[in-house]
Amino acid sequence: MLRRLMTALSMAFCLAVTALAANAQAPVRGSPRVEALLARMTIAEKIGQLVQMPGGRQKALNSRIDDNERARIRAGRVGSYLNVAGAEATRELQRIAVEDSRLHIPLLFGMDVIHGYRTIFPVPLAMAASWDPAVPERAARVAATEASAAGLHWTFSPMVDIARDPRWGRIVEGAGEDPYLGSVMAAAQVRGYQGVGLDRTDTIMATAKHFAAYGAAMGGRDYAGADISQRSLEEIYLPPFYAAAREGAGSFMAAFNEIGGVPAHANRALLRDTLRTRWRWPGVLVSDWNAVAELRNHGVAESEGDAAELALRAGVDIDMSSGAYADTLEARVRRDPQLLALLDEAARRVLMIKERLGLFDHPYERSDPANEAGAMLTPANRAAAREAAARSIVLLKNDGGLLPLAASAPRIALIGALAQDANSQLGSWRAQGHVEDVHPLLPALRAAMPHAEIETAGDEIPAAVAAARRADLVLLVVGEDFDMTGEARSRADLGLPGNRQAMADAVLDTGKPVVVLLMNGRPLAIHRLAERAPAILETWFLGVEAGPAIADVLTGRVNPAGRLPVSFPRASGAVPFPYARLPSGRPADADPAHDTTRYRDLPITPLFPFGHGLSYTNFTFSDFAVRPLPNGTFRASVIVCNDGARAGEEVVQLYAHDPVASVSRPIEELRGFRRIALAPGEAKRVSFTLSPAQFAIWDAGRWRIEPGEIQLMVGASSADLRGRAAFRIAGAGEGREPAAAIFTPSSEEPIR
Ligand code: NOJ
Repeated sequence: MLRRLMTALSMAFCLAVTALAANAQAPVRGSPRVEALLARMTIAEKIGQLVQMPGGRQKALNSRIDDNERARIRAGRVGSYLNVAGAEATRELQRIAVEDSRLHIPLLFGMDVIHGYRTIFPVPLAMAASWDPAVPERAARVAATEASAAGLHWTFSPMVDIARDPRWGRIVEGAGEDPYLGSVMAAAQVRGYQGVGLDRTDTIMATAKHFAAYGAAMGGRDYAGADISQRSLEEIYLPPFYAAAREGAGSFMAAFNEIGGVPAHANRALLRDTLRTRWRWPGVLVSDWNAVAELRNHGVAESEGDAAELALRAGVDIDMSSGAYADTLEARVRRDPQLLALLDEAARRVLMIKERLGLFDHPYERSDPANEAGAMLTPANRAAAREAAARSIVLLKNDGGLLPLAASAPRIALIGALAQDANSQLGSWRAQGHVEDVHPLLPALRAAMPHAEIETAGDEIPAAVAAARRADLVLLVVGEDFDMTGEARSRADLGLPGNRQAMADAVLDTGKPVVVLLMNGRPLAIHRLAERAPAILETWFLGVEAGPAIADVLTGRVNPAGRLPVSFPRASGAVPFPYARLPSGRPADADPAHDTTRYRDLPITPLFPFGHGLSYTNFTFSDFAVRPLPNGTFRASVIVCNDGARAGEEVVQLYAHDPVASVSRPIEELRGFRRIALAPGEAKRVSFTLSPAQFAIWDAGRWRIEPGEIQLMVGASSADLRGRAAFRIAGAGEGREPAAAIFTPSSEEPIR
């Protein structure tokens, strides 16, 4: 009886999800305005809408705008620009398009606004460490307000690539290794950028990129291919894209890489069958920079014309900067009516997006010089950046409660060249961020600890050691500078670069208490440092408010509660090492005498696991239980108590495991989390609502829900599990969405 009820309920759930997907169905035709326009356009004008030109370079915006470009706009041979910005500059270009071109079609202006436009927020990997979607959402909202005031309509963000190999430098741009966390963060950023609707002038269109599996690059080498199974693609790499599409992301960007020999820009199965047909996504798909022409380098096109045709057939609407569409498509379209239909479709999508952004009615509204200056780096924006930075910091180790700093440590040595490197705090994508805007650590520390004597030293070992000897406590800033992660910044050795490990060893040899402040955009292999240093704070690259945020955490004004969104390996040779591994026939055993899945020369655990992060207070978990609800869902709840003396925040993490299924399932997978605040002595009950579709398995084209037991684990990290429970899925069924992209509602209630 119960089983039948459960089956009926899970079917009801499936129907609800189907309804959601149907809402997102792509309209085949545009509005009467768009269709009328399309009917009047020449082939060249249609192609023009698909052409995106660089109006400048990333570090020299607008620098490529010249008479040739102005002529191109007048002739209707360009539909969008990237790397142009500024109310004045964009207004002038828009004026040419709207007043001087035959059909008066407005231009779109896009740019890489990744973690802030003028007010630079923490790098995306850091914001994911907040485990608080409100953080990246707010950052995206602030970025949209500033960027739109500078005339922009479109950002090439969020990057939602799952990255499990920290050798890949672009790991800094995403939300880490987990598809569930990645999906939550992806949706949050889309909401932030696009606000309540793209027709509002303080919004910009979001781009989910890089579609897809760019982060699975072989060996962690940027631009290398991904040789992954269809199941990994569907279950691990695609869910954040699905979440972004479901949230209404206006655009997607194809990835530079190939999967199993099929470059993304020629991947019809991915761009059309999955994105358009299965997901019914109606937005506009842009190529990555020059990637259409690069189809020749991949060895799948002989000429630029072949490359353009392949890309258009595969579903690439806009050609970013390669010129292949502009130079070669017209002749091909004239020869082939099928291509003309595809051209119409792509041009229609561009026009529809322009309409959705309100550009036909209000082409200049985002380009108002009177608004521009006042929108930038406002006190409210700075305050948001400071909060985001403080919430992104992760306390990795704190032996003996060395942190927060005791007022009785008046002589502090702040050691390491990175401590003075304000520029690095801006990260690898800094849009219009200025280094002078960064509030660095030293003055912030002086302001926070007016009675301390703070001496500084760089990376030279003798000076560092001398400073350490004179101090009561050392703050040792080590890691990577901003330019060691990001695009084309893959590294084979994840240890501290240069002499930094030697310098750290020399400072630690002085016997002084050392607090390590890590600066980095990727997990580092810092096994030796982690063994020796009593306290380690992960500070990433935190943006314009980096200094005050770090000082807040060091002094205890803020109790850290960030958690790692990606595992830290013990050695470079141990990557990728995600927590959500498949079980083995010979599971890893700590005893190397047994033949099990492990390295002989390393312990079987990561250095710091996914989800790890400490607090200045202590949390206990109790009463974890799960029960079925009448609507076919399951409610898991746990009581979390702050039994320390300070107020603090815990990230309650819910993991699941399917112990027996038709295929091996990961040993644990994140399926819910909630960051909660607790006063000393306070307890709260935290509840999560799960549905059977969240455990569906990708199986040859469908999401199969299998009956049987699901084990749940709750805890403070993927390796610090404090409670276990289980429930049963009664009947088989079919899910409609990627399992990891289905969000788990959660709630908290105080316990007396
Ligand atoms: C190449 C990068 O892969 C992509 O992320 C970026 O948006 C474009 N360049 C445009 O700058």
